[in-house]
Amino acid sequence: MKLSTTLATTLLSTGTLTQAQFTNQSSSFYLELLTDDATYNGTFLSACHEGAAIEGLCAFGDSMPNATITSDIFQLNSSIYSSGGSGVSGELTYELRGGNFNLSEPLAYSINPASNVASLFFYPGTTGDSVYIAFDADGLMNIQSSLDDTTVPASDNGTISYYRFYVCTTNNIGYTYPTLNWVFGDGAPQNPTCCPTNVTRIFV
Ligand SMILES: *[C@@H]1O[C@H](CO)[C@@H](O)[C@H](O)[C@H]1NC(C)=O
Ligand SMILES: *[C@@H]1O[C@H](CO)[C@@H](O)[C@H](O)[C@H]1NC(C)=O
Ligand SMILES: *[C@@H]1O[C@H](CO)[C@@H](O)[C@H](O)[C@H]1NC(C)=O
Ligand SMILES: *[C@@H]1O[C@H](CO)[C@@H](O)[C@H](O)[C@H]1NC(C)=O
Ligand SMILES: *[C@@H]1O[C@H](CO)[C@@H](O)[C@H](O)[C@H]1NC(C)=O
Ligand SMILES: *[C@@H]1O[C@H](CO)[C@@H](O)[C@H](O)[C@H]1NC(C)=O
Ligand SMILES: *[C@@H]1O[C@H](CO)[C@@H](O)[C@H](O)[C@H]1NC(C)=O
Repeated sequence: MKLSTTLATTLLSTGTLTQAQFTNQSSSFYLELLTDDATYNGTFLSACHEGAAIEGLCAFGDSMPNATITSDIFQLNSSIYSSGGSGVSGELTYELRGGNFNLSEPLAYSINPASNVASLFFYPGTTGDSVYIAFDADGLMNIQSSLDDTTVPASDNGTISYYRFYVCTTNNIGYTYPTLNWVFGDGAPQNPTCCPTNVTRIFV
């Protein structure tokens, strides 16, 4: 069974497809920042330690990613419910290498109810706050939604890609790092350090 992107996105965003298995894994890629900010433009994200088996996406200014360093490489896991449109939506994954285990972890929102800025962390297992991302025809990472609640009544406009990624200095669980974040809604991020950015993938 193939669902339309709109339907799949709607179902995903409402959590109906909690049983969906995101096991169709893409080739590995690097994540590059594209931004007007000269400090970050053209640099690559890397998975960074934020807690036990929890990694953020850090903007440490790496200008040259390295395929032998696993913290530089990521994949997109899609499901049988994912489909084309403005980019196949799925989970961004990172493989944590432990002493005696390898664990593929999905990206999830780290939500603070007091802020519109959500850090994006790789957590072991499923947390219920999975981030479903896609890459558009230009290779830009986006998050899709079909529901616009600013209209009365709320409208289903079909799948729309949003680009609300920011590099912000964050400290969610003990470490102060420049990390990749998502801003909810179309307002300005309330964290004053946030710098708007796009993210593109470069296959290894
Ligand atoms: C991603 O897909 C690969 C290949 O099927 C699988 O081994 C891995 O566990 C998946 N990762 C997640 C987080 O589901
Ligand atoms: C950002 O870097 C890209 C190449 O990596 C370049 O094409 C673009 O002009 C740069 N943007 C700015 C605002 O410097
Ligand atoms: C990539 O990392 C490996 C291991 O640290 C190192 O030996 C190699 O020189 C690096 N390659 C580049 C192009 O930096
Ligand atoms: C898995 O994803 C690839 C593209 O990344 C696609 O060509 C293929 O049809 C997908 N397979 C399934 C079973 O969805
Ligand atoms: C983890 O993956 C690497 C690369 O595929 C492999 O060399 C290593 O043996 C794996 N470790 C475990 C514990 O499976
Ligand atoms: C969705 O459609 C409504 C009704 O046509 C329109 O007012 C609104 O601007 C659209 N929202 C977006 C995000 O395009
Ligand atoms: C990111 O890309 C989108 C779509 O092309 C564009 O509208 C937006 O201005 C870009 N944002 C930045 C920070 O470059």
